[in-house]
Amino acid sequence: MVKAVVLGAAGGIGQPLSLLLKNNPSVTELSLYDIVNTPGVAADLSHISTPAKVVGYLPPDDGLKKALTGADIVVIPAGVPRKPGMTRDDLFKINAGIVRDLATGIATTAPKAFVLVISNPVNSTVPIVVEVFKKHGVFDPKRIFGVTTLDVVRASTFVAEVHGDLGKAPTVVVPVIGGHSGIVPLLSQSSHPLPSGFAQESLEALTYRIQFGGDEVVKAKDGAGSATLSMAYAGVEFTNKIIRAVKGEKGIVAPSFVHLSADKNGGEALKKEIGRDLDYFSAPIELGPEGVVAIKSLGKVTDYEAGLIKTAVPELAINIEKGVSFIDSSK
Ligand code: NAD
Ligand code: LMR
Repeated sequence: MVKAVVLGAAGGIGQPLSLLLKNNPSVTELSLYDIVNTPGVAADLSHISTPAKVVGYLPPDDGLKKALTGADIVVIPAGVPRKPGMTRDDLFKINAGIVRDLATGIATTAPKAFVLVISNPVNSTVPIVVEVFKKHGVFDPKRIFGVTTLDVVRASTFVAEVHGDLGKAPTVVVPVIGGHSGIVPLLSQSSHPLPSGFAQESLEALTYRIQFGGDEVVKAKDGAGSATLSMAYAGVEFTNKIIRAVKGEKGIVAPSFVHLSADKNGGEALKKEIGRDLDYFSAPIELGPEGVVAIKSLGKVTDYEAGLIKTAVPELAINIEKGVSFIDSSK
């Protein structure tokens, strides 16, 4: 029995994400919360012949609380998306408050739920959720995740394209680390190595495409938003991994942006590898029934990748601090 809740369920990501969750037979209850349109989305999805009972909630009459009661997993794609010319950090002004308020609802109603944060800027919104949970005395670092799976999905697709065979895309695994902004694909560790003789210039172009895949979609949508369908796919990939781990499947590993205290050794080894005492980082994590079991070592990286990590870290530190101080200053 799994109750999944989507906050921001009527949006560009929220609707297809809810559809894909409705398609998972392990989900027995699906609660959809948004400030608009959830009754219609829920009515529509409720006709699909899969087990999940779907209910839509709006803010009046304690809708958020009702949506969250008994939640096992809460996925948050609520908030505004980018337009061309904007950075993810430009979304902070609006999305920080949205995520803070939703996190308060989760902390008070479903503090044990797994929380999967999609709303940008992820490098700041995850610290916001964590600080809200700390404030309510319910913080468990093993259960709060920034969803960076779209970066992983893009890396798989683009590497398969390099191989000239999209059929390989589902099996290509590339660790993508850092943050969401400050994205670092470790292409040297790809399950499907790049062709021998792959030029440094081509490696840099491929790396750039994975790092800035979001811009590609924002530009193509030309003012109508950012990635929604691929994000819904990625969000459900990650959610389904959590569900499988909760059900006892062993050895599930996926990158996610987490508080490093989730690791049994406090992420000390990882901090040494990245050369800075950051509180958050996206790295491959092993999942278990309680959430994070361990944060994996980055392993051997090339000089080029080490340079990318070095460039990403200061920006990450600024993003993280911005999220933390947003809640600190509202204490
Ligand atoms: P959207 O505007 O289509 O949908 C957002 C939804 O959030 C809307 O339905 C809106 O009504 C709802 N919402 C706003 N305030 C709310 C509140 N207080 N409570 C509940 N719902 C609320 O946007 P989208 O394209 O779905 O993108 C959503 C977010 O996801 C953006 O911040 C975007 O940048 C981010 N995103 C993240 C990734 C990632 O890889 N993590 C990828 C793509 C998009
Ligand atoms: C993405 O990577 O597609 C998302 O973070 C959306 C964006 O603004 O780029």
